Amino acid sequence: MPSTRALPAGANYQETFRFAAEHPEDFWRQQAQKLEWFQFPETILSKDENGIDRWFADGEMNTAYLALDYHVENGRADQTALIYDSPVTGKKARYSYLALRDQVAKTAGMLADLGVGKGDRVVIYMPMIPEAAIAMLACARLGAIHSVVFGGFAPHELAVRIEDAEPKVLLTASCGIEIEKVIAYKPLVDKAVMDSRWKPDNVVVWQRNECRASLDHERDRDWSALLANSEPVGCTPVNATDPLYILYTSGTTGKPKGVVRDNGGHAVAMKYSMDAIYNVTPGEVYWAASDVGWVVGHSYIVYAPLIHGCTTIMFEGKPVRTPDPGAFWRVCDEYGVSILFSAPTAFRAIKKEDPDGKHLNQFPMDSLRQIFMAGERLDPPTLEWVEEKTGRPVVDHWWQTETGWAISSNPLGVESFDIKPGSSTKPTPGYQVEVLNEAGEPVPAGQQGYIAIKRPMPPSCLPTVWRNHDRFETGYLSQFPGYYVSGDGGYIDEDGYLFVMGRIDDVINVAGHRLSTGEMEEVVGGHEAVAECAVIGIHDDLKGQMPLGLVVLKDGYHSENGSIEAELVEKVRQQIGAVACFKRAVVVSRLPKTRSGKILRRILRQIADGESYTVPSTIDDPSSLEEVSNALR
Ligand code: COA
Ligand code: AMP
Repeated sequence: MPSTRALPAGANYQETFRFAAEHPEDFWRQQAQKLEWFQFPETILSKDENGIDRWFADGEMNTAYLALDYHVENGRADQTALIYDSPVTGKKARYSYLALRDQVAKTAGMLADLGVGKGDRVVIYMPMIPEAAIAMLACARLGAIHSVVFGGFAPHELAVRIEDAEPKVLLTASCGIEIEKVIAYKPLVDKAVMDSRWKPDNVVVWQRNECRASLDHERDRDWSALLANSEPVGCTPVNATDPLYILYTSGTTGKPKGVVRDNGGHAVAMKYSMDAIYNVTPGEVYWAASDVGWVVGHSYIVYAPLIHGCTTIMFEGKPVRTPDPGAFWRVCDEYGVSILFSAPTAFRAIKKEDPDGKHLNQFPMDSLRQIFMAGERLDPPTLEWVEEKTGRPVVDHWWQTETGWAISSNPLGVESFDIKPGSSTKPTPGYQVEVLNEAGEPVPAGQQGYIAIKRPMPPSCLPTVWRNHDRFETGYLSQFPGYYVSGDGGYIDEDGYLFVMGRIDDVINVAGHRLSTGEMEEVVGGHEAVAECAVIGIHDDLKGQMPLGLVVLKDGYHSENGSIEAELVEKVRQQIGAVACFKRAVVVSRLPKTRSGKILRRILRQIADGESYTVPSTIDDPSSLEEVSNALR
């Protein structure tokens, strides 16, 4: 018998937080009621066959319906749903909700003609063009599962994802454009498909004028030609717990993890976040300056703004050099953006090129209310610069691919707090965040530890790793029973503010992009001359962190004029991609280790960053530290 408890309208943060923690089913039922379900769930929270908490298990819905058809049927048909602004091609376009729905329905028809149906996977390797969002929504319409791969990843990374996701179809474009560099995608896709043990039935190519791809394999298809012959299809009902997408993210090993996102919990969390966190009204323009290849792009370029009835923007450019550091402000001004969301690194790039805000001053940005940042720690100087120059409040909020939305934030739609620089404010209602010690016990306020989320996690958080549930259990759940371990360390202060200080594993954040040093070590260690290596993330003023490889060569190998270092840099670029930003390898004769053979990575990082460090008593050979210091000098 469902209870009828409801959170009263206008409840403050404390009331909302407590209600969500004490009555999660009532809280999330109430949020779910804000969406149009085909079949409203009777079961709000239950356990699946793995004992994992699942939301809305018997609900039936379709995410693309919520994002498009619902609005077309409810008065938003003519409202702009999506704006495409591409300084790299000079193109601009607008799609109304009706036009976008029709494009998506036809594209879904095209995929259906290629045999794609509910539960089938489709890999999307695309630049920031509307067809990328259309492809995602078309998959959602069919109940197919998309897996978007960021365009900056090399063929090897794409191949790994193809092999794991086993897509029926791969959708791509002939090229991406990085400022003035045209990057032909088709040869990269061909190589990935060649290297992968799994072959998609078809590779469908969106031809761009900047570079036409030759469609010379039997499996190749021309997107426009297929579309011309396809018929629009309707929305396939799916269960709330059916996967909407798989998004691969870096873990501590070479193999990326396929984070699985469900349909129902995700839609409910997206809708709730637009109200509670971003405090944005349907009809407003919401811009996440990111890429659809990352979780920010999935959640806040495509799904949340559309489910909420906002106008979203796909910007095919950079914060700088497209054409200048005024790009973000120009877009905010031109389209009446209310909420801007990007990574701190983007603003550091702007600050570096326009420290006095001369470009910014050209654009009044009358509609801009608020700026949100995530993806990496927001350093106080960047926060202060952005607030001072734009005159707009900035919110730092913390989240992960695994959750799909903010774990902690200043929840403006619930209650607006004074911010503390360096803090992502307070746990979002629905999340119970605790800081734990090695033994899994909560630590006192102000003390650092593992940041963990008490289960059940709220809707949208991953229920598993694609076809590798063990990895979900061992990587996130088994360390502290009853908790999900985030991989980040930090503390909660006496006022309940959360400070996320950084990863406690081998994951680094480079320009807001999440990368695995373990994966880079596998690539570097695979070079014939390398005996052993350590890749660490060191501080970088612009990108937050940059990888640095310390390498010990096998006997008999010598690096002539840095030739081996250069080969290693090229090897990482070829295998992982330019986005890894692995630009520096340094040869040393040995790595500092404990007597049990563990590389002292933290100390390596401290040496590289010029910080003071304590030599541990367990060190095998203290003189190895001096040698590393000299090599890095
Ligand atoms: N396709 C192909 N290559 C790509 C790519 C893509 N989609 N995205 C990045 N790359 C390449 C870049 O061209 C660059 O190549 P290079 O080594 O030949 O110069 C390399 O990958 C590194 O890219 P990046 O780290 O983005 O550096 P940058 O100097 O080009 O730009 C910033 C720096 C700060 C402007 C940029 O990183 C940025 O805008 N960051 C915002 C981060 C963001 O959106 N994060 C998402 C979470 S909110
Ligand atoms: P991703 O899964 O790519 O979104 O990266 C998630 C990781 O980025 C987190 O685990 C953090 O390490 C880092 N991160 C994201 N947002 C923040 C933030 N606001 N403050 C500190 N770190 C952040």
